[in-house]
Amino acid sequence: MNFKDYIRVIPDFPQPGIRFKDITTLLKDGKAYQAAIDSIKELVKDLQIDVVAGPEARGFVIGAPLALALGVGFVPIRKSGKLPGETVEASYDLEYGKDKLAVHKDSIAPGQRVLIADDLLATGGTIATATQLIRQLGGEIVGAAFLIELSYLDGREKLAGIDCRSLVQY
Ligand code: PRP
Repeated sequence: MNFKDYIRVIPDFPQPGIRFKDITTLLKDGKAYQAAIDSIKELVKDLQIDVVAGPEARGFVIGAPLALALGVGFVPIRKSGKLPGETVEASYDLEYGKDKLAVHKDSIAPGQRVLIADDLLATGGTIATATQLIRQLGGEIVGAAFLIELSYLDGREKLAGIDCRSLVQY
């Protein structure tokens, strides 16, 4: 399946000059969504994964079904102020804007092997921050899986040492 056929590119959103990759057109198609999750599962099949972690909000849409497909649990990494329990938090820069991520302190046990999943790798800021939080809890990052990678933003460079795998590249 050519997944690019299902991803809509919207120019100048949310700011002039940004070509937004809209995955809602893929998600609403059950066969394409299922095939995307199956293919990402295939991309990471050689990794030993205890748990999948994904950042709000689009990371949930990829990470949670991927976790179920792999037969492991899912840890939500949320924007600050959303999680009710004790958290660790860190700020980060986005391709456009700034934000703060949080994860429950008891969500990852020391030594657990964590796959990070997200819809999109852009500058790598989100995943660098997620990685920092998971490592702070003693988790071991075995890799990061993405539906889309914007290769021209060199996110991989920011994630040096992390095994990044993506289904579709622009
Ligand atoms: C988007 C996207 C990734 C991140 C990628 O999320 O879903 O998580 O940006 O950018 P980066 O590699 O430059 O960090 P966003 O923060 O827009 O939140 P959303 O998923 O709630 O829309």
